[in-house]
Amino acid sequence: MKRVMVVVGCLVVGAPWARAESGKAVIQATAEGAAISGEATLTETPEGLNVSVRVANVTPGKHGLHIHQYGACGDAGNAAGGHYNPHGVKHGLLPTDGFTGAHAGDLGNIDIGADGSGTLELTLPELRLSGGEHSVGGRSVILHEKADDFGQPTGNAGGRIGCGVIAITS
Ligand code: CU
Ligand code: ZN
Repeated sequence: MKRVMVVVGCLVVGAPWARAESGKAVIQATAEGAAISGEATLTETPEGLNVSVRVANVTPGKHGLHIHQYGACGDAGNAAGGHYNPHGVKHGLLPTDGFTGAHAGDLGNIDIGADGSGTLELTLPELRLSGGEHSVGGRSVILHEKADDFGQPTGNAGGRIGCGVIAITS
């Protein structure tokens, strides 16, 4: 289904999504020697930005997953800055609270199974890789130590155990 839409997007010249972009973040552990790994694939679609994340070697349970402001993973992930929050609003869950009730980077939680791996797939209307009011290319995907409980100011998700910079690939 997704593949069909990409093909259509290329053929319909002048449609706003005709120049569909995609990007990728390779998620790596922020701590030396930790085995966490993963990848986020981001694709612009007519419905919004599709974000597909998979991670491995993470402790089972829910872990907060956000897009943070800067494309940097140093200093135990702190170089990524705060949650991407272009409108200066409160913390929430973007798919349900929208841009007025959540940071643009508030993707919620990823569920990690007993085998240490998990996936999260979301399509976020109006989020873009580049251009527009909320673009995430060149920022970071951060995986947290604990679950995002949606409390203020940033969901009480603890340390930043995984990080990857979102590179635009096409
Ligand atoms: Cu975060
Ligand atoms: Zn937030």
